[in-house]
Amino acid sequence: MNERILVTGGTGYIGSHTTVELIEEGYDVVICDNLSNSNRGVVDGIEAITGRRPIFVEADCADPVAMRKLMEDYPGIKAIINFAASKAVGESVSKPLLYYRNNLNILINLLELMPEFGIRGFVFSSSCTVYGEPDRNPVDETSPIKAATSPYGNTKQISEEIITDYIRSGAGIKSIILRYFNPVGAHPSALIGELPNGVPQNLIPYLTQTAIGIRPELSVFGNDYNTPDGSCIRDFINVVDLAKAHVVAARRMLSDESSDDIEIFNLGTGNGVSVLELINTFREATGVDVPYKIVGRREGDIEKVWADPSRANNVLGWKATTPLADTLLSAWNWQLQLRKRGIM
Ligand code: UD1
Repeated sequence: MNERILVTGGTGYIGSHTTVELIEEGYDVVICDNLSNSNRGVVDGIEAITGRRPIFVEADCADPVAMRKLMEDYPGIKAIINFAASKAVGESVSKPLLYYRNNLNILINLLELMPEFGIRGFVFSSSCTVYGEPDRNPVDETSPIKAATSPYGNTKQISEEIITDYIRSGAGIKSIILRYFNPVGAHPSALIGELPNGVPQNLIPYLTQTAIGIRPELSVFGNDYNTPDGSCIRDFINVVDLAKAHVVAARRMLSDESSDDIEIFNLGTGNGVSVLELINTFREATGVDVPYKIVGRREGDIEKVWADPSRANNVLGWKATTPLADTLLSAWNWQLQLRKRGIM
């Protein structure tokens, strides 16, 4: 029988792409999602790509009764990949308790149930936000953790500590913590992608919605940073490349490839790209000019951050390979697909 993996937040942006990669590698996936920021149509998209429909359970991962029932109904789960979390930086500043309650309750709930149900591995979605404004770039995993600039970022730091403390207590589980840089793009089939509710807060969905005419222009937050063109620099990583790293991480834990019970990896390309460069690459890749204006800095933004992904490259044998132009084209094709289906 194929090994069974629980993907929480599996109808979300990164969760859905990871589910596709897991199914394609022969895993049996159970998705748990409360659809707070996604919809059940995503399961159809996953099935259309892979030819297999994952089990879908609509439930709140912070609900211990519901999660116990899920584990009883679908026995034999070997690992959990935990994407379920609130992730809007700005919203976390205005609703901190929502973020602490949701993100930490989900984590504690899942960790607590793992030993009882014999679940060995836990992959956790963390973020480069834990490095804050780094002293040097690129940042490797030994770079200092900086004071969080938002409650969202703080939940990632606290979550990493909770996982570490739990494993040190002899819980008998293993964990791989993945620190994502900026995941972007969509599946090349354009059957799944990023679908934020309301006005997008992140750069790529705002950019593609502007390109298709939903928004009149993109605001570039600041051109007076200490960078070559004055705009912020990020490490934009293709979401399918990112998803594949989760498959490698799950396999590594389940096959006991490492004697370490807890490992941390940066997931990025190793290339820093500025916001203005990205707009330019989008135009070159798609032929679509995106109207933009320079506005003031956005509060809480990091000036520049990009990954040293050597540890993931060498230890996991994983590398981000998709060129940025192809990634941006995939984001654009997804936006066109949404229009075709009358969704946006
Ligand atoms: C942030 C978080 C990250 C989180 C991610 C997902 C921090 C430091 N980073 O990433 O942890 O995982 O959101 O929600 O907390 N930009 C514009 N115009 C726009 C939108 C963005 O110029 O309309 C610029 C931003 O100023 C930034 C870059 O584009 O320089 C990327 O922004 P965004 O996509 O929001 O991601 P981060 O802020 O890097």
